[in-house]
Amino acid sequence: MTDKPIVALDFATKAEIDHFLTQMQTDDSLYVKIGMELFYAGGQHLLYELKTQGHQIFLDLKLHDIPNTVKSAMKVLAGLEVDMVNVHAAGGRAMMEAAKEGLISGSGTKVPKIIAVTQLTSTSEAAMQEEQLISASLNDSVVHYSRLAQEAGLDGVVCSAKEAGLIKAATNPEFLCVTPGIRLKSDSVDDQKRVVTPKEARELGASSIVVGRSITKAKSPLKAYQQILEEWGN
Ligand code: C5P
Repeated sequence: MTDKPIVALDFATKAEIDHFLTQMQTDDSLYVKIGMELFYAGGQHLLYELKTQGHQIFLDLKLHDIPNTVKSAMKVLAGLEVDMVNVHAAGGRAMMEAAKEGLISGSGTKVPKIIAVTQLTSTSEAAMQEEQLISASLNDSVVHYSRLAQEAGLDGVVCSAKEAGLIKAATNPEFLCVTPGIRLKSDSVDDQKRVVTPKEARELGASSIVVGRSITKAKSPLKAYQQILEEWGN
């Protein structure tokens, strides 16, 4: 997997994406993340355009359903030739195995990476214990789900950079830790609770960083991207 920062295209419309991309003319292509909102609002066409422009795509739909349904859905997503997809680890081992099978059956020569969400960062330890009736600590649950994802044949997890060391120690160094919650020193934190800089993420063992507002809301998105690229060490 490429190491370049993944830019979260959290825009409401395609017009806003087009405007953003015109400000991001670099020699190299981008790795972008498309979420549910845009995908459900007509995303297949958007994905096709982004691919035609040469960009790599992380399609962040976080699938979670019975194994057979997820398998069929993944087969379709693989046909869209995206580079990375994800599921909720809470769907279980059989669901994650089925997701991988679906991806393989729908892919040509290159199978997209597949990673798992462990516990959402919006879930507190108290909410996890009370609502999901999980008595373990949040960290233990995250590590447990990471191991389960690895055993099911997935490539990695979405996690905080602060959890990357723990997860790699519990799985293996090649297991991907794709980490949002990234800010430059000069940025505002917004609604993220625990942020790290690109350099800190690298030092903490992140395999890949996902960056949204630090780039999309910057006065010069291209300059912000280049600064992040440099700090990240690419
Ligand atoms: O703007 P910001 O850099 O905070 O955006 C981070 C991106 O990563 C958003 O698209 C957000 O939904 C996503 N994300 C996250 N935390 C997770 C999983 C995904 O912030 N645990």
